[in-house]
Order: sequence, then structure tokens, then C-alpha cells
Amino acid sequence: MAALTVERKTYKGGFRMNEKEDLNKLIVSRMGGINKKIMVMSGKGGVGKTTFAVNLSFALQMNGLKTGILDADLHGPNVPKMLGLDDVTLETKDDNIVPAKIPVGLDRQLKVMSIAFLIRRDDPVIWRGPLKINALQQFLGKVEWGELDYLVIDLPPGTGDEPLSIAQLIPDIHGSVIVTTPQDVALADSRRSVNFSKKLGIKVLGIVENMSGFVCPKCGEKTDLFKMGGGEKAAKDLGVPFLGRIPIDPNIVQDSDVGKPFILSHKESDASRSIRDIIDKIKK
Ligand SMILES: Nc1ncnc2c1ncn2[C@@H]1O[C@H](COP(=O)(O)OP(=O)(O)OP(=O)(O)O)[C@@H](O)[C@H]1O
Ligand SMILES: [Mg+2]
Repeated sequence: MAALTVERKTYKGGFRMNEKEDLNKLIVSRMGGINKKIMVMSGKGGVGKTTFAVNLSFALQMNGLKTGILDADLHGPNVPKMLGLDDVTLETKDDNIVPAKIPVGLDRQLKVMSIAFLIRRDDPVIWRGPLKINALQQFLGKVEWGELDYLVIDLPPGTGDEPLSIAQLIPDIHGSVIVTTPQDVALADSRRSVNFSKKLGIKVLGIVENMSGFVCPKCGEKTDLFKMGGGEKAAKDLGVPFLGRIPIDPNIVQDSDVGKPFILSHKESDASRSIRDIIDKIKK
């Protein structure tokens, strides 16, 4: 593969993108230290990808699996906020970026990388394709991920520059998890993500139906706010595994907003149980 020319750019935190380098080689060697790379994607926005990606990463690390999460949503990077990493200044070591780390249990740390660590809060990222590809190359090749069991990649909705770059830059992606909601449109939404994965030779690990039913905390009655079963039906029609459904739980919103991983702070909830079941299937 041809060597890539990387533009010189200076970011807050002192990180300097290099002059000329064969980043692709660096990416291949860096990614070689990570056993399973998982893309979390969806056909449309706001279905709970970041929520799921954050809880998946946290749960994996909690179970003793060395894990990193890459926020590849360059225009809407929400991973740091959901993990309570609001004011992080990244360090560099030998011209490499040291990812942010959050403690998980006694001696475990989840590694986190996001464009949000490199820009001023509220500054929009106004980049076209080539700059976005460049940033993702740096995130994969220049971040000291070290040896990991899992790298979870949170993507923006759709099948644009970010998922395409990630799919093309990482040589051996373990698979994609597609998050959807229970409405009938889940089929159309998921179809695009499934076809994207298939075209790029990425195994679809399965579909997650999020926001599936709401149990009233006062009377206990269950209401299917967004209908029920769209994700499961989509999985069946598209011939990919159905990983399970996660109910609506107001504590998910609360926890996301204050940067607490829901799976830890509400371990005994139905939603946490569902997330754990889904993770077990992903790990198989
Ligand atoms: N099961 C759930 N119950 C209640 N709220 C949820 C649930 N899943 C996600 N949410 C909330 O829905 C909102 C959107 O979730 P999230 O940001 O994870 O979606 P997304 O798919 O990553 O969005 P985007 O496409 O913008 O990246 C957040 O406020 C989150 O807390
Ligand atoms: Mg998101």
C-alpha cells in the first residue's frame, strides 16, 4: 500500500500530527495487538449506539478483559460525556498519544480515545472526508492502545466516511453490532448497516433492539412505546443473529447525562440484565 502523507496539525494538548509516515503499517501493527475489534453501528441516529458501546466496553473491562473504546463519531463525540471524562488533556509519549483511562474496579482501566479530547468543548468539527479519514488513521495508528482483548468502536449513524474508513483501515474487524429500535422501520434502517457490513466482508454479530418496552415505575404496567419486535423481525428477515432487546429505563438517560456507566450503577435492573445477556452472546 502506498505511504500516506499526513498533514501537520497542532491540537490542544500538544499532540502534533506527524509529517510523513507510513501510517497504514503503523495501524496494522497497532491493531495486531488487539484481539477483537467490534463496530457499533446503526441506520439512523439516536437509537442508543453510544449508550450500548459505553456499557459494552465497561462490562468487558469489568470482567477482566482488557478493553478500549474508540469514539469514531467525529461530529457528535458523546463517549467522553457518557463516561464522565469531561476535562481530559491527553498526554503524548514518543510522538504517540496516550489514551484517556478510567478506573474499572481495583487495578483495571478502560482506555478511551475521542476527538472531544482534542477540540474545545462546543467547537464543531467541520471536516470533509479526507480530514476525517486522517483523524481516524491517527486514532488507530498513533494511539497507544497496547495489548487489548477488545476495542469497541462507536460510530455515527449511517454508512458514511467514518464507518467506511474504520472498515477499510482495520484489517481484521471481528464484527459489527447493529443497534435499532422496535418500530417497523427497524428493518429498513438495519438493512443498510447489514448490507454495508456484508459488502465490506465484516461479520454481523447481530442486531440489538433498544428502547424496547417501558415498565411504569409507579404501577409496573408495561407499555410498548415504540411497538415491539422490529429488531427481531429485521434480524430474521436479514438472516443475521438477534442479540436481544433492551427496555427503556429512565436511569439510562440519567446515568448517561452524569457520566456513570448504567451497567455498574444499576446492576440489578432489567435493562442491565438484558445488556449482560447480549454481551454474553457477543463474547461467544
Ligand atoms: N434503553 C434506553 N432507555 C432509556 N434511554 C435510552 C436508552 N438507550 C439510550 N437512551 C438514551 O437515548 C439517548 C440517545 O442515546 P445515544 O446517544 O446512545 O444514541 P446514539 O445512537 O449513539 O445517537 P447518535 O446517532 O446521535 O450517535 C440518550 O439520551 C440515551 O441516554
Ligand atoms: Mg452516538
